[in-house]
Amino acid sequence: MKRILLGVSGGIAAYKSAELVRLLRKQGAQVQVVMTKSAMQFISPLTFQALSGNPVHTELLDADVENAMGHISLARWADVLLIAPATANILAKLAHGLADDLLTTVYLAATCPVVVAPAMNQAMWNKAVTQENVEKLLRHGVKVMGPEQGDQACGETGYGRMTEPTAICAQLFAQTESGDSKDNHYLAGHKVLISAGPTCEPFDPVRYLTNRSSGKMGYALAQAALNAGAEVTLVSGPVALLAPVGVELIKVTTAEQMYQAVMSKAVSHSIYIGAAAVADYSPVVNQPEKIKKQAEQLTLVLQKNKDILAAVAALNDCPFTVGFAAETHDLETYARDKLTRKNLDMIAANWVGQEQGGFDSDQNALHVFWADGDKSLPMIDKTQLAEQLMALIAEQLKAV
Ligand code: PMT
Repeated sequence: MKRILLGVSGGIAAYKSAELVRLLRKQGAQVQVVMTKSAMQFISPLTFQALSGNPVHTELLDADVENAMGHISLARWADVLLIAPATANILAKLAHGLADDLLTTVYLAATCPVVVAPAMNQAMWNKAVTQENVEKLLRHGVKVMGPEQGDQACGETGYGRMTEPTAICAQLFAQTESGDSKDNHYLAGHKVLISAGPTCEPFDPVRYLTNRSSGKMGYALAQAALNAGAEVTLVSGPVALLAPVGVELIKVTTAEQMYQAVMSKAVSHSIYIGAAAVADYSPVVNQPEKIKKQAEQLTLVLQKNKDILAAVAALNDCPFTVGFAAETHDLETYARDKLTRKNLDMIAANWVGQEQGGFDSDQNALHVFWADGDKSLPMIDKTQLAEQLMALIAEQLKAV
């Protein structure tokens, strides 16, 4: 991706878009900027002109542009149209096909991928009509990045902050650098379902049992599957990561919720990868009120959770099912046992509880087993490891 058309609409987060232009150019992209009238109330076109090195486009009917078809030539020029910040108003206009200014008209004329980074007050984001507009845009193939949770300029807290420019930039380039070429789309036509992150099992309104999974491994797999041309559904426990642009993200908290989400999707997918660290047990009782500190000892009674992986593999028309095994000892023995006992197609075993790799680390190593073979994938960055595992899965899928 070389030519990025940045649409800036009128929100306080518009100031962050100046930094975004700088970062995009640092990555080697050419950037042109289209601003709405209200965006110009927040930041001057001159700022974007200086940072992008190009004149800024603000008018739909611009007599200076040859044959006054500026919106068409801008739409043709762009490899990607990125709208950041995208206000509630602009999302509503895009969702309904309104074209009453340059930015909305360019959107209608664009045939390139479109990415929006919403930014607005949290109540506006949560409003049903905004959510409906976003869902509509997603159905139309628009990629939605964010928004993030946190303190807002209006003094409120919640979802509505624009994703940070560094994260927007990293995600845009991660997708293209790691293989946007059609030659690498070895999973085109496949639907891949991935679970990621921990689950949290509450036992009172302020406390829960969880584990140290960061979601990095599962999210890297989601990106690798996207890069390979698959449609991806990511069922994620609570993590502090941005989902790759283009995945269908289903956020869950408990093992039971993850079970319900995965089971509702499994039969419509051709591959399931269970990278989540699902709690094996959860408290029998979730007290409605905070447990007070009284006795010297407190006993929590736990019950076994449903095994999601085994349930997927037991479905009549089950997807190609890949499990993970996280072990502190006897890695191969336990992994092979899980492979046969849970009736899996493959299992990716990793050491946990060590200094390097496993939980909450940027790197990992895997030993992958299947019925009549195995392969060791040495310690490497999780993004690269995920690419290797995905290629191995595709190879084995072809063999069955
Ligand atoms: O998230 P990161 O910080 O990047 O860390 C990555 C990881 C260490 C979490 C990941 O590489 C990993 O090993 N994930 C599986 C962790 C785990 O729960 O392993 P397990 O051996 O306890 O479970 C075996 C398999 O059964 C796993 O595929 C798990 O998703 C699945 N399972 C377990 C329990 C349950 N109730 N339902 C399940 O589906």
